Amino acid sequence: MGRVDILQECGSTNIEAADKERYSHGDAVIAVRQTAGRGQRGHKWDSREGENLTFSIVFEPTFLPVTEQFLLSEAVALAISDTLTCYGIDAAIKWTNDIYVGDRKICGTLIENDIKGANLSRSVVGIGLNVNQVDFQEWVKNPTSIAAEKGGDYDVMDVFHKLYDNLLHRYDTLASGGSDEIRGLYAQRLYRAGRTARYFIPSEGEVCGIIRGVENDGGLIVEIDGITRRFLFKEIEFII
Ligand code: BTN
Repeated sequence: MGRVDILQECGSTNIEAADKERYSHGDAVIAVRQTAGRGQRGHKWDSREGENLTFSIVFEPTFLPVTEQFLLSEAVALAISDTLTCYGIDAAIKWTNDIYVGDRKICGTLIENDIKGANLSRSVVGIGLNVNQVDFQEWVKNPTSIAAEKGGDYDVMDVFHKLYDNLLHRYDTLASGGSDEIRGLYAQRLYRAGRTARYFIPSEGEVCGIIRGVENDGGLIVEIDGITRRFLFKEIEFII
């Protein structure tokens, strides 16, 4: 295991982990309380002090071409869903890398990559996994947690250790040439795949579509009115 720092309080563990002098491959920073937790698309990440897992882990995937960077997202999403399986939770991966239980979000990920030449040089993978919190602020959309799903009270550090091991395991699969395995498993665990559901396309409005898969660059393949189309991040939203 790399260096693991537990901070009683910080703004965002992603900002802490961005410090290249302090953190390198395999190191992690955990926050008991985040005062400025960041989500995707400029959103905030809300997590009650001490109840959930909020941390960032650093990877140095120098073998990974920028054009294949989505593989890292896939490996991380798989590791989170592997971990939830340990708690009896059958989680799905909502493209790109939210983790859902039914129609409720249990975990979010914010990955920030540095690039050198054609490859990634360093990635800060920030993960917010809801563990013991059962009531959330009203602006948090469809939240759930391990405790909300299964009852009981969980040791947050125990969840961290399981997830840390799973992250390194999936990362090692990727680093040792297991891209096809990662892509295959990601596709198998994809939320809503093969089912008709509602989506919002900013330039078109609400549509019905069926997710047919994900392309190597991370594009989402959706069949709409019998036509297969592909969407990049922010080009389509799930209506839940
Ligand atoms: C999202 O679903 O919008 C992504 C949420 C990511 C939250 C985690 S909590 C630990 C790390 N530090 C942050 O500021 N954000 C990520």
